[in-house]
Amino acid sequence: MPKFIITGGRPLSGKIAVSGAKNSALKIIPAALLSAEVLTIKNLPGIEDVERSFEVLTDLGAKIERNGNEATINTSGLNSTELNAKMANKFRGSIMFVGPMLARFKEVKFPHPGGCVIGAGGRPIDLFLEGYRAFGAEVEEVSGKFYHIKANKLHGADYFFPLVSVTATESMMMTASIIPGTTTLKNCAMEPEITALAEYLNSQGAKISGAGTPTMIIEGQEKISAGTFTVIPDRIETGSFVIMAAAANANIEITHCNPEHIMTLLQTLKKVGVDFSFGTDWIKVNSSKGPLTAQSIKTHEYPGFATDLQSPYVVLMTQVQGTALIHETIYDRRLIWTDMLSQMGANITMCDPHRIVIQGPTKLYGKHLISPDLRAGIALVIAALIAEGQTEIDNIYQIDRGYEKLEERLRGIGADIERVE
Ligand code: EPZ
Repeated sequence: MPKFIITGGRPLSGKIAVSGAKNSALKIIPAALLSAEVLTIKNLPGIEDVERSFEVLTDLGAKIERNGNEATINTSGLNSTELNAKMANKFRGSIMFVGPMLARFKEVKFPHPGGCVIGAGGRPIDLFLEGYRAFGAEVEEVSGKFYHIKANKLHGADYFFPLVSVTATESMMMTASIIPGTTTLKNCAMEPEITALAEYLNSQGAKISGAGTPTMIIEGQEKISAGTFTVIPDRIETGSFVIMAAAANANIEITHCNPEHIMTLLQTLKKVGVDFSFGTDWIKVNSSKGPLTAQSIKTHEYPGFATDLQSPYVVLMTQVQGTALIHETIYDRRLIWTDMLSQMGANITMCDPHRIVIQGPTKLYGKHLISPDLRAGIALVIAALIAEGQTEIDNIYQIDRGYEKLEERLRGIGADIERVE
């Protein structure tokens, strides 16, 4: 099993480029099912979850051609409506194939999706199943978390999300775009990846209004065409690198990013005392003159403080003056990883599964760690970069899932990090 060996304390400086967003790529790839024409995708991140997505689509009979960070997908010859269980339960993103498959072929069989162990009860999909029923589909749980969905006739629906769900919003938006009738979705997620997907679909003939707001209205089309989609910059990777620069007190420029997508984080870091400036596609972090101070945060759906940035932010709070309360409101198990940070020397009290209190600053020491999920994984890498001594991080598949050639890019700014097979 590959692992990272990191020797901390090296001065970091220079430029680091951000890749295309995992959570944009994992939606546009299934969107290829919405049209029989050829879809071209640019700025794809070279990450494991993208490879898993292409494996699922190829297994269904799609023709995929790759060329570096570009790909073309032709689904005109699809010959199956059953997602390969072994492939699909390796990542949460596999659920994104279900809605478009149902809309195009009126039938789909699939396993409960996989993904990070951050949600209690294994990342539920009840909202998806409710949504498909609202469109007129029959949902049958065949056995042991395997589902068979079919419909004679699908129709538009009025659906109110009982809680805000990113992928459930995207799934219903895609399904509604090519079934007869008008669909009104309320209490939608508003992530930039959703807006980017809606804008692309509209450029291919879909009629989606309100993406990026809580209410979307979709007028189903007979069919839509396919064209070229450029994956938007990964806002979580951007925020993680900004936090890394602040924690390492380094002069680092983050390029190929969109600062507009992490304004809540930037506003918080300003209060912490981090010295940075930004333009349309870059953020420059300067090593701070004065001490940084603790700021409490509460994660919230977009545009609030992203739950995916909570883990890296916790590492920063171990290095600043004062006490920070971290309130993780989205997931039930997304603070468990901080136990490893305590083993490295952090002063963290777990108040309940959703809240921890961090007392800083504390010195961190290298340890033997295991990456539990990709966002805790990058947080452990940041901790290792600023810790004294050597850190070994196992299970780095849970980092490769979301970060392309991470060790190469970190070496580019002076980090001492090796991948050991
Ligand atoms: C997306 O997950 C992202 N994944 C997550 O990123 C991200 O953390 C999350 O949105 C929140 O921003 C992808 O886009 C592939 P949710 P998603 O549905 O859509 C509950 C990463 O590291 N829920 O918005 O699965 C759920 O348990 C990943 O890149 C139900 O109860 O998250 C959670 O508590 C981690 N029933 C809450 O909603 C459902 O049917 C919000 O989850 C669906 C979700």
